[in-house]
Order: sequence, then C-alpha cells, then structure tokens
Amino acid sequence: MKGVILAGGTGTRLYPLTRIVNKHLLPVGSYPMISYGIERFRQAGITDILVVIGKQSAGLYTNYLGSGENFGVNLTYRVQETAGGIAEALYLSKSFIARGEKFVALLADNLFLDDLTPYVQQFMKQAHGSARVLLKPVDDPRRYGVPVFDPSRPDLISFIEEKPEKPQSNYSVTGIYMYDDAVFERITTIDRSARGELEITDVNNLYARDGKLEYDVLQLWWGDAGTFESLLEAGMRMRGVLP
Ligand code: DAU
Repeated sequence: MKGVILAGGTGTRLYPLTRIVNKHLLPVGSYPMISYGIERFRQAGITDILVVIGKQSAGLYTNYLGSGENFGVNLTYRVQETAGGIAEALYLSKSFIARGEKFVALLADNLFLDDLTPYVQQFMKQAHGSARVLLKPVDDPRRYGVPVFDPSRPDLISFIEEKPEKPQSNYSVTGIYMYDDAVFERITTIDRSARGELEITDVNNLYARDGKLEYDVLQLWWGDAGTFESLLEAGMRMRGVLP
C-alpha cells in the first residue's frame, strides 16, 4: 500500500518559528517532525510514499530526506504552491495512486505512538469506495474535527463537525485518513470553506453521508503539534521513539 504525507500549509500558529523553517521540520524530541510519520508508515509496511511540501524550505526537505533510502522508504515529492487546504494538498497525489488502489494519508504534524499496522489491515477488508479514519478521545475537542454518531449504526460516523463550539462527542478525528482512489472524484465536488480552503472534513462528510465512513480508536498517545503547547508535549512524548 502507498502512503501520502501532507506537509504543506503555513503553520501560522507557530510564528515566529515557522517564519524561519517549515513546521514539519521543527524539532520534536531528537528529530525533525516529519521523521515520525515516515517511520510510522515504514513500520506498517508502507514504503512507497509521496510527500506534499510547500515551497518554503523545499530544499531542506530533500537535503534531509533525500530519496528516502536512509529511512527505509522510497520518496516522491509534490509541491503545493499555496496553502489551499488539506483536501487540495491531497489532490496533488492523484497521479501517484493507481486506479482502484487504496492508500493512507497522514498530516505531518500528527504524532502518535500507535503502530498503524492493525488499522491498515482493517481498512484492507473494507469495500471499495469506503473510507476509514482514526479517532482519539481528547480533553478539548473544539480544536479538531469531531465525529457525531448515529446510535442505530455505532460502527459508522454519521457526520464530522469541524472545530465545533459545542462538540457532540469527546473524540478528535486525527489526521490519519484511509481512502481509495475514489476520494479524488469526491474532492472535485466540494467547495472552498469560509477560510478559503478545501477542507478534508467536507470530503469525509461525503463518505459519512453515504454510510461509508468507518473508524477505529487509537490506543496510545496522539497529538497534533500545531501549537506551542502541543509541540512541547510532542517533543517529550516522542523522545526515544526513534533510535
Ligand atoms: O490534527 C487533526 C486535525 O487536522 C483534524 O481534527 C481536523 O479535522 C483537520 O481539519 C485538521 O485541522 P487543523 O486545523 O489542525 O489543520 P491544519 O490547517 O493545521 O493542517 C494540518 C496539516 O495539514 C499541516 O500540518 C500540513 C497539512 N496541510 C494543511 C494545509 C492547510 C497541507 O499539506 N496543506 C494545506 O494547505
């Protein structure tokens, strides 16, 4: 299975750090942030990986990651010209994914301790055209996409609210998404949000509307390192995860 790591975006919540270097190259523990996503993919047997980067720091990515050989993976790069949203960045991987092929997409600022292997195996058993997301209970769901469940179909997510004022569950939809190539057609049908982005939550809600959005719950620690507090916590949690 292939993997797509999304490392575009501007990282404004981490200014001034991200004025100097792209967010996903900032130190987390002893390594640049993006190293952990690559390692989680490699661990799950996902070694053919496309990395979507922004123009900022593009040379640093290739300096650090190169072909991927030193990390046990094979890397391809695409550049997202402007930060038009997660779904826009994902669309750049269209030609990387073959017809009918399943893949895993990962936000590069999402850090976690779980091995992805069992979740990927579950996804492989799903029907064509369905999707899978990974959830994690959090203290403040208002920062994230938050799933809503229909009690009559507890195995499915019926809707996701993006950063709701009054969350209907205490779960976050983490930035680990599993799709097949049908996702690209779905992306073409969504409109830009009020903040001018193509939102991944809108894409996921198309699957949810059709009763095709399944999920698992991560067992171990998960965080997104998009704020100073979460970046600090991630540094401590991930220290020692890589040799
Ligand atoms: O971390 C999980 C959350 O990520 C989810 O719960 C939300 O539903 C999802 O919308 C997303 O929310 P954020 O507001 O945290 O996303 P952010 O704009 O910070 O982007 C997260 C990563 O996505 C970023 O580190 C790199 C990638 N990205 C983002 C944008 C806007 C791109 O590659 N290109 C982009 O244009």
